[in-house]
Amino acid sequence: MCGIVGYTGRDQAAPILLDGLSRLEYRGYDSAGLAVRDGSAPAEVVKATGKLFHLADKTDQGRALRGQCGIGHTRWATHGDPTVINAHPHVSGNLAAPGSGAGDSDVVGVHNGIIENFTELKEKLLRHGYVFYSDTDTEVVVKLVDYYYKKYRIGPVDAITRTMVRVRGSYALALMFRDFPGEIFAARKDSPLIIGTAEDASYLASDVPAILKYTRSVYYIDNLQVARVSPGQAVFFDLNGDETAVPLTEVTWDAAAAEKDGFEHFMLKEIHEQPAAVRDTLNSLVKDGRIDLGAAGLAEDTIRSLTGIVIAACGSAWHVGMAAQYVIEDLAGIPVRVELASEFRYRSMPMAAGTLVIVISQSGETADSLAALRVAKERGALTLAVVNVVGSTIAREADLVLYTLAGPEIAVATTKAYSAQLIAMDALAVEMARVRGGITGEQYDHLLAEMAALPDKIRRVLEDKERLQWFSSKIVNAHDIFFIGRGLDYAVSLEGSLKMKEISYIHSEAYAAGELKHGTISLIEQGTLVIGVLTQGKLFEKTVSNMMECKSRGANLMGITVNGNFAVEDSVNFTVYVPRTDEHFVPSLAVVPLQLLGYYTSVSRGLDVDKPRNLAKSVTVE
Ligand code: M6R
Repeated sequence: MCGIVGYTGRDQAAPILLDGLSRLEYRGYDSAGLAVRDGSAPAEVVKATGKLFHLADKTDQGRALRGQCGIGHTRWATHGDPTVINAHPHVSGNLAAPGSGAGDSDVVGVHNGIIENFTELKEKLLRHGYVFYSDTDTEVVVKLVDYYYKKYRIGPVDAITRTMVRVRGSYALALMFRDFPGEIFAARKDSPLIIGTAEDASYLASDVPAILKYTRSVYYIDNLQVARVSPGQAVFFDLNGDETAVPLTEVTWDAAAAEKDGFEHFMLKEIHEQPAAVRDTLNSLVKDGRIDLGAAGLAEDTIRSLTGIVIAACGSAWHVGMAAQYVIEDLAGIPVRVELASEFRYRSMPMAAGTLVIVISQSGETADSLAALRVAKERGALTLAVVNVVGSTIAREADLVLYTLAGPEIAVATTKAYSAQLIAMDALAVEMARVRGGITGEQYDHLLAEMAALPDKIRRVLEDKERLQWFSSKIVNAHDIFFIGRGLDYAVSLEGSLKMKEISYIHSEAYAAGELKHGTISLIEQGTLVIGVLTQGKLFEKTVSNMMECKSRGANLMGITVNGNFAVEDSVNFTVYVPRTDEHFVPSLAVVPLQLLGYYTSVSRGLDVDKPRNLAKSVTVE
């Protein structure tokens, strides 16, 4: 989704803003823009469509825009086409021509989110003589702030809070007022925004990686708060305009973790970081050789009283939920429902007493997952967030939080955050099983040892990457790929299929293997690739049979199975083996070759692996 940056300090703002925007590129965007002001001079606004280098070229890498205070934006179009005129920043006056300065505008702003009632607000402003040059909801907000600012002759904070009361929807806003040089005003509701301070400089950003290079002291501005940001300082206000305290947090993420570190793409780097992500996440949940959910606040009594679990999430995080349901039900005997967060929010699902709703999210900002969390709370359920980004909205609003320790994930296609979520859910399942007597002490020790061995085993899977690279060169022109499996293998297939389609743009589907012949098998023709995930002993023969049904209709077969199942080579054309582990945890291993396959196929097709078209890292709109 859109990315926001801001800077006010002693240095030239534009190069810093461009650098920040480049670190937010992974969020997805189709145009970009900057507004920079030099002292009390009006802001200069420059925008460009397409990749960020167009904006950098247009501003001579930022050198052409003089000034020490500015805001920047990468836009992922929602209202209005991805054109220069619709790109942010937007101004309260009339931006006569694309690329011109802010002229006599009093307010200049950038926005992430969606203003739902923008048509109604636009009509009101038209009646008051405002003229609109773009199709965006952002221009409406900027002009509404300007309207209140002038009508009531109030300061920026009051003008912004009045606007916040009037608008419906989600927003992170960064605004500059002509009368307040060197200051940036920010506000948010349901869209991410952080403020970092250093000596003599302050930074705004949608996400931590954009400012890690400059500071680790960060304020997580809360929903419905306003910030007044000056060099080295940020003051916060609530909706009444009263000053309010926001704690300063020290970010522990390693700045190098947000760099490519010699890898060609972030995705490949993050695939290789999975052993560490899994180890760190597991270690954070194990104390003195026992799983300890104390930090998450999940008490044993609560676990005992659970009558059911609902997991709500989107995309890959939903796939983690799909895998976790088998493990929780099998080990702990608690019924689990897995819901797409975007659907859950509009269902009237009765919530029995004792239901735990688990929301899984890397970013902690996904709009649908956040809405699902709120619905669950409204219906009286206890909520647990499994989240990677510390201080994110979902983490703050859930009753309980279990953090994954994947570190910053930059590639749009998730890999290490998925694996960290998976191990966190496995640890949760094992602990629930122990507390509810679903497993013996011996089984508990065995499961714990198997989980602890996973990082090393993932490393071994990564050693097989050249074979996957070779195989990907054979499938580079495929039109359709089908991923099939049963049980946990089906859950892995879902993730493998998403990894393939989202970065290679090859159509792919995941099917529960037994379901294929109920319709989809008619799509199998000569040469169609069918990838079977075959890691679950008692389901192995059945899935192999389903693969053979495809082979007899012309399919080319690839299989992923565990070491020792060598007979599979009699049936399939290409096999990948992963080390043996307790079957509940094989998804942590089986997913890795599928991530690599998607990655290398995308590379072979010459695509933008880390920033696939039309996609955003964090989907903060509905
Ligand atoms: O930040 P979240 O985990 O809530 O994001 C959910 C999905 O948007 C995300 O998992 C998406 O499907 C992945 N980027 C796909 O690789």
